[in-house]
Amino acid sequence: MRAALPDPTSDEAAHAARVHDAIVGRIRAEGPLRFDAFMDLALYAPGLGYYSAGAAKFGPDGDFVTAPELGTVFARCLAEAVAPALAAGPADLVELGAGTGALAAGLLPALESLGRLPARYRIVEVSADLRERQRARLAALPRALASRVEWLDAPPSEPWRGALVANEVVDALPCRLFELREGGLAELGVGLDAGGRLAWRDLEPDADLASAVSAILADGRDRPRPYRSEIRPQVPAWLGAVAGPLESGLAVFVDYGFPRAEYYLPARVMGTLRCHYRHRAHDDPLVLPGLQDLTASVDFSQLAAAGRGLGFDVACFASQSAFLFACGLPGLLAEAATLDPVSLARLGAEVRTLTLPGEMGERFQVLVLSRGLDPRALPFVTADRSGRL
Ligand SMILES: C[S@@+](CC[C@H](N)C(=O)[O-])C[C@H]1O[C@@H](n2cnc3c(N)ncnc32)[C@H](O)[C@@H]1O
Repeated sequence: MRAALPDPTSDEAAHAARVHDAIVGRIRAEGPLRFDAFMDLALYAPGLGYYSAGAAKFGPDGDFVTAPELGTVFARCLAEAVAPALAAGPADLVELGAGTGALAAGLLPALESLGRLPARYRIVEVSADLRERQRARLAALPRALASRVEWLDAPPSEPWRGALVANEVVDALPCRLFELREGGLAELGVGLDAGGRLAWRDLEPDADLASAVSAILADGRDRPRPYRSEIRPQVPAWLGAVAGPLESGLAVFVDYGFPRAEYYLPARVMGTLRCHYRHRAHDDPLVLPGLQDLTASVDFSQLAAAGRGLGFDVACFASQSAFLFACGLPGLLAEAATLDPVSLARLGAEVRTLTLPGEMGERFQVLVLSRGLDPRALPFVTADRSGRL
């Protein structure tokens, strides 16, 4: 049962109707869609999808809050983490999915104060609407910083060195939905019911899905039937495209998720797919198309294995809390003694949200892939618990 959601405004309802019509048009033309195709349309269809149209999305007036939106603590610690990759010679920083530009706005000044400014701060953003927001926000930075920022239509394909960062991007990549039933494996897609409304439809799983699901079941654990979950078989190819040409440096992925053994727990019978609408989380992706965020947790074992497959080392897998403490958070807390009461209260609230186990501290994980760097120079290796992967 879905809890009551706030009513959309009339403009939002009209927008949802346009997105709905576009999806229905695709289904009428092509038949039921795989869930990843539905998610791609609902989130990224140009001018229509949740990330591609003008919805507020981030912050108190939006649907969710991300770590860089809370203040500058996350960005300052991340600057400490990536600084070793920007130490010698010209190096770039590539940010995937930069949202409102909050992380770039915090990272650039923090890197400047560490003496580790990248030659270029390159943003790969699929949403035209968010690109414009990023441009407006980053134009307000001092010229010496703003002039380093550029936007790319695709990840760099030439060899490069430096650091890649992606906060809450992998969870936004479209996923496929599967269900283990008494009769075998089914894929869940989206079609139309007799009244022309969006409705779940069974699809025949293809060989890619079947082999990805068998890899999950290879742990031999007994799972109840029905058992529904999600998977992103495209992750190895996606990682190859975004990080493959990184010759020397770090790739940092921060997101909610689990090592595989915790992700596909027998008890997690409904998977992790969630929808966010005005700070309410629920599990019906077929309503409010284009108005709500759709997301599923990240299988960090899959991401780490894909990284190793590309020749990276897994330098760190840690909870966000442990990672931030290893990357300079204690030093930032020591500065608190110099703050006025209002700034102190703000810092306290920010650090609590970033680190407490019931907030982001343990739900969010950080995976760092490295290539060609001395592990002794990396501040976060003390937090590493990659044995969990
Ligand atoms: C949940 S938001 C996170 C935004 C930002 N990183 C933050 O932490 O506030 C996901 C972001 O990833 C972008 N995105 C999704 N898929 C992407 C892809 N394949 N490549 C680059 N950006 C992508 C979205 O448009 C959006 O900016």
